[in-house]
Amino acid sequence: MADRYAVIGNPIAHSKSPWIHAQFARQTRQDIEYARLEAPLDGFARSVEAFRGAGGRGANVTVPFKEQAFDLCGDALSPRARAAGVANTLMFEAGGLRGDNTDGIGLLRDIAVNLGRAVAGMRVLLMGSGGAAQGVVGPLLAARPLRLVIANRTAAKARAMAKRFGATAGGGYGDLGNAQFDLLINATSSGLTDEAPPLPPGAFAPGALGYDMVYGRDTPFLAMARAAGAEARDGAGMLVEQAAESFLLWRGVRPETAPVLAALRLG
Ligand code: ATR
Repeated sequence: MADRYAVIGNPIAHSKSPWIHAQFARQTRQDIEYARLEAPLDGFARSVEAFRGAGGRGANVTVPFKEQAFDLCGDALSPRARAAGVANTLMFEAGGLRGDNTDGIGLLRDIAVNLGRAVAGMRVLLMGSGGAAQGVVGPLLAARPLRLVIANRTAAKARAMAKRFGATAGGGYGDLGNAQFDLLINATSSGLTDEAPPLPPGAFAPGALGYDMVYGRDTPFLAMARAAGAEARDGAGMLVEQAAESFLLWRGVRPETAPVLAALRLG
């Protein structure tokens, strides 16, 4: 029988993860099944246990459960999940759950390998202070940007996050002044409601990359980046790269991401 995996979230109907993992499985000749599981908003832990009880081997976790996934794992967390405070990958083992976070490495691999940009020496702006932003700030800092500034609608959350992770600064969008950035990452959920973070118009440096972690839609932030003359990219590459890292953790083999990303973009 095939080993069973799932992506757990709410909502989950539009998740591309089952399709991506099916491509990886075919490519690496692994016998797995990968389903979508919608957990009730008040029933994440129950859903995880039910899936594990039904023979599940592991799961990806998405909005809004990444903090709860972290909490469920107790001490059984990888260093990068522990640093992030959120988990997107669960491994079901004989002793219990183990959690990891592949979002940060997924984003970094997309920027470095697929987009050919080096974060080292860049002026980076990370927008948002929720689970999505927390998952990537540590790996971004490890890539040695010149500066990493965190901006959030609720300024206090960005300030606290900057302090906790050792970023250059954190605050509200109004605090950015005339600062310019080479890499601007939208880790807010603003795109889902067709809004953009209230960035000052001059925030994009010449040749900048505007990156929206949301995938599969042309968000107002991406339009803003293009209007400023920047390269604009959605989160499809990050989605495929974080999936490949999860697949590697579960199956011990790293799939090729380029053909899967190309096929995903063709839609
Ligand atoms: P996620 O797990 O996707 O990060 P979250 O924890 O709900 O979701 O966080 C959403 C983030 O998007 C927050 O940083 C939120 O800002 P606040 O902390 O001020 O709420 C940000 N956000 C959501 N809608 C936004 C908008 N229209 N403009 C700017 N920021 C927005």
